[in-house]
Amino acid sequence: MKRFTGSRVLVTGAADGIGAASVTAFLGEGARVLAVDINPPRGDVPACHYEILDVTEANAPERLVASAGRELGGLDVLVNNAGICEVSPLASTDDDTWDRVMDVNLRAMFRLSRSALPLLRESGAGRVINIASISARFANDGMGAYSASKHAVAGLSKSLAAEWGQDGITCNYILPGAMIVS
Ligand SMILES: NC(=O)c1ccc[n+]([C@@H]2O[C@H](COP(=O)([O-])OP(=O)(O)OC[C@H]3O[C@@H](n4cnc5c(N)ncnc54)[C@H](O)[C@@H]3O)[C@@H](O)[C@H]2O)c1
Repeated sequence: MKRFTGSRVLVTGAADGIGAASVTAFLGEGARVLAVDINPPRGDVPACHYEILDVTEANAPERLVASAGRELGGLDVLVNNAGICEVSPLASTDDDTWDRVMDVNLRAMFRLSRSALPLLRESGAGRVINIASISARFANDGMGAYSASKHAVAGLSKSLAAEWGQDGITCNYILPGAMIVS
């Protein structure tokens, strides 16, 4: 018996790296997957529904929830993985850079989670997995906006867990260290 047989999973940032590896892993465990990325997939397209979309677009959450309903028939697991890192000392970080990092790494995560709530409730065992970073715990020179966004992902994740646990929905966040996923 595979661990995710019958599970319906949405993964953002799925073209490459941790997101693409997550899609492959979920498929290998029997899940059905909706994969989303601003870019086309880097390697072979795995056997999933793939959507090219910027998660920061105003209507992205509604579109993705509609796709999950249409393509998967619901949603059990939301993996908020899409993220960017801009290396820039805070003293010279301009507003656009700050806003973009917060938009992709934090705001889009909040907005998609909020929109997915009805489907996660329907699931009866909804799971939200937010990809933070070891930068949610520590700071490095030149990564202030990134680190601030990932610290905020920790706060958002704890808050989601506290508020949605009563609906049987768990929310966890993961703190990967530096890695190259090939
Ligand atoms: N690789 C690491 O060392 C590391 C360490 C800690 C945390 N992380 C986190 O893991 C997550 C994945 O990182 P990765 O290393 O696999 O990076 P990656 O760049 O290989 O993958 C990120 C994916 O997100 C996509 N993406 C970026 N902006 C998007 C948007 N607006 N809409 C939709 N998709 C978008 C990119 O196209 C890319 O495919 C990120 O949240 C990152 O912060 C990575």
